[in-house]
Amino acid sequence: MNYLDRNEFNFEPSAKVIEAIRNFDPATLCFYTRIYDEGKKSIVSVRLSEIYGVPEPQVLLGYGGEDILKNAVHYYLMEGSNKTILIPEFSWWYYNRIAGECGGETYMYPLYEQEDTFAYNVDEVIEYTNRIHPRMLLLASPNNPTGNSLTSEEIGRIMENIPDDTMVLIDEAYASFITSDTDYIAPLVNKYSNLIISRTLSKFYGLPGLRIGFGFMGAGHDNFLSYANKYLGYNRFSEAVALAALESDDHYRKVADQMEWDRQLFKQELAGLPGFKVYKSVANFILIKYPVEIKERLQQAMKEQDYKIKFMGDKGLESCLRITLGRPEQIQIVVDTIKRVALS
Ligand SMILES: Cc1ncc(COP(=O)(O)O)c(C=O)c1O
Repeated sequence: MNYLDRNEFNFEPSAKVIEAIRNFDPATLCFYTRIYDEGKKSIVSVRLSEIYGVPEPQVLLGYGGEDILKNAVHYYLMEGSNKTILIPEFSWWYYNRIAGECGGETYMYPLYEQEDTFAYNVDEVIEYTNRIHPRMLLLASPNNPTGNSLTSEEIGRIMENIPDDTMVLIDEAYASFITSDTDYIAPLVNKYSNLIISRTLSKFYGLPGLRIGFGFMGAGHDNFLSYANKYLGYNRFSEAVALAALESDDHYRKVADQMEWDRQLFKQELAGLPGFKVYKSVANFILIKYPVEIKERLQQAMKEQDYKIKFMGDKGLESCLRITLGRPEQIQIVVDTIKRVALS
């Protein structure tokens, strides 16, 4: 089966990652880490602190980005009487679900469809946040599934103009696909104590099965840090692989660059077909509008080819496909299959 439905990684892990797995000493697993004796969470949080220039206590680690998001949403929505969270209208279904799990009340701010993209209206996000005054504001950059993102200036403008007691969580699971620049993160978390930026090794670093997410937050959140921390440490095997992945940017950047070929192929081959629209993609997936009347035939054709792509079910996006950018030969098959069904 070719999985192009969950934004996973259809390429090779880096040589350093493979080497770290092969050379891992199993005896390491016979002991807990001792790094907490030094007041640190993990060898990974120490390395992330060096790479991103954020003090180690402000580095978050989790079982995927999913875990960071869940910990933060559960903690902040359960902590006091304000249980409201504001999320993007078209976004990862999981945000609403984790808020619901702890009795949270979800509000949404709109995203606007433009020519070949969706966009946040930053002034409106600010206005909604001041009016609703939620305990949490969630932003995703790039957003899944619409693929639009925020600049660091826009993030700064939002932070500057909303209440200090609204915790802002920016899900940057896909951010490394846009740029390798991470210099904006430290100044933002140093300036705004109510900011959390969450990232993961699952997308750009292609290791969703490793289950490692990380994040950075403003200072002064000791209770949350203690809530989210693992007292006896993290999975020591995953830690070793994670360090190797973080040293492999060149390999993963090359893979990310290759995805441009996929984007161009989708655009060239599908954008001109009746009822199709290919949205701009800055992540490892692409959103495509298609004539929904071909849905069942397309589902069947993909199944026959042994391919899974995502047929969106979200309100307002029912006539969209979200396809993970994979190897060229995979994308060629997907494009050919869509064309065959659309033109028959
Ligand atoms: C928007 C978004 N955020 C976060 C994640 C979390 O991924 P993980 O838990 O594998 O880090 C995903 C996974 O698909 C996602 O789409």
